Amino acid sequence: MQFHNEKDKILIIDFGSQVTKLIARRIRELGVYSEIVTPSEVSKIRKFDNIKGFILSGGPSTVTRKKFQSVPKSIFERGIPVLGICYGLQLIAKLLGGKIKSSNKRREFGRAFLKKKRSSLLTKNFINKNNSVWMSHEDAVVKLPRNFKVIASTKDSKLTIIENLKKRIYGVQFHPEVTHTENGQIIFKNFLFLICKLRKKWNIKSQKKQLIDKIKKDVKKGKVICALSGGVDSSVVALLIHKAIKKNLICIMVDTGLMRKNEFKYTYSLFRNKYKLNVKLINASKLFLNKLKNISNPEKKRKIIGELFIKVFEKESKKYKNLQFLAQGTLYPDIIESKSSSGSKTSIIKSHHNVGGLPKKMKLKLIEPLKEFFKDEVRLLGKSLGLVNNINYKHPFPGPGLAIRIIGNITPDLIKILQEADNIFINELIKNNLYDKIWQAYAALLPIKTVGVMGDTRTYENICLLRAVISEDGMTADYFSFPKNFIDNISNKIVNNVKGINRVVYDITSKPPSTIELE
Ligand code: XMP
Repeated sequence: MQFHNEKDKILIIDFGSQVTKLIARRIRELGVYSEIVTPSEVSKIRKFDNIKGFILSGGPSTVTRKKFQSVPKSIFERGIPVLGICYGLQLIAKLLGGKIKSSNKRREFGRAFLKKKRSSLLTKNFINKNNSVWMSHEDAVVKLPRNFKVIASTKDSKLTIIENLKKRIYGVQFHPEVTHTENGQIIFKNFLFLICKLRKKWNIKSQKKQLIDKIKKDVKKGKVICALSGGVDSSVVALLIHKAIKKNLICIMVDTGLMRKNEFKYTYSLFRNKYKLNVKLINASKLFLNKLKNISNPEKKRKIIGELFIKVFEKESKKYKNLQFLAQGTLYPDIIESKSSSGSKTSIIKSHHNVGGLPKKMKLKLIEPLKEFFKDEVRLLGKSLGLVNNINYKHPFPGPGLAIRIIGNITPDLIKILQEADNIFINELIKNNLYDKIWQAYAALLPIKTVGVMGDTRTYENICLLRAVISEDGMTADYFSFPKNFIDNISNKIVNNVKGINRVVYDITSKPPSTIELE
């Protein structure tokens, strides 16, 4: 729990739902600070002053079995409002004397429509004639606990929203945190502001200050090393830590030779000259290219790059005395909650650059100042730290870089060809105001040659594949529909300007079944 001194928070008790982190996000969007804790952590809480509300998440457990995930019943006796979502609602009902039934016949997955039974602060301005909510449950509450009333029901479950007005305990069977629930945010708004009587306080500025103070406190006079790639996450981490400890932050940029055109040069001079950071650039491209010679297997490529990166980074870091910390740009979505019954959490490090293997070997402590944040929040932080837009709003880029965008064997010539094509594509997107509408766009080279004709000459050259997708989080994606004039011109631009490409194709598969990258 990082922000134990933060006042006025909502405690989200996580019972293992895939979408628990979305609850945290919705609450932060409303300007209120929240923390996610496991059920077992709740019994260890001694101070409740700052907790203004509990939210019990959904989860795979079922209260119809003998053993189920639970919380001490005392949380209902503290006068603190409680909102249970899906499993959370069933748990409230179970602990307070209601009845829950598991029913295969009555399971509800997907869209359902609410029918209002009674007015409630929780549903103020929420229920209208036809709003649909997102359901995902087999168990259902069939008998209310004492002093509870029904606020709304659906065709298949009678007790969809319930409340105990006096004790301010609420439960909803659907998931207000997912976008499929229309206006789900109103439920949280009502819970926070009308029921918990919170005020909007959380903002990125106050967060920035807290993060910087925390880094100062943790690091003291120690030294921190950070792998800077020029992507959003590592750039924000570097600026943030630099604000806290200045020259005691050492940034290492390992040039693998697999980056986009001029990217590393630009990032290096920006961080050195504009932001005055202590940055060291290591040109390791020959090393990487040698190791990748004749390697066409995607997994082998990734492994070689990951391991070599660690080797180069470790060698460099040995040159610095008194290093104690390794900074990483881990984000909230990178932290995966394990589904163990104890509800314990394990954190995995991005496969990106694979520096996750470093701390153990190098005996460094990890600093992950962004681990509570979502990408768009990181961008807000970046903006308030003065990070330039072209880094702050940059598309994601995979750790192994262009190596996984040159299908098959990698050669210096192919890297050059790809860098040129990619550069043209990205610049055209920016020029046509399309870049910011797209989650991620890139050019790739396919390992086949085809025949073309240029002037009077027959050519036999590479195929360039363009990919541009829209996505919320990279987990699923759709291809981007380009305006006709853009798609008409882009192949001409690439073929006319890049020697070595005579054909351009556009990838129109979504993820799934495809992935965003090709390898
Ligand atoms: P896929 O190809 O799995 O990619 O649909 C999903 C997102 O992850 C990025 N990606 C990576 N990011 N290291 C990273 O940091 C990697 O090895 C890596 N591989 C894929 C990809 O660019 C997309 O945004």
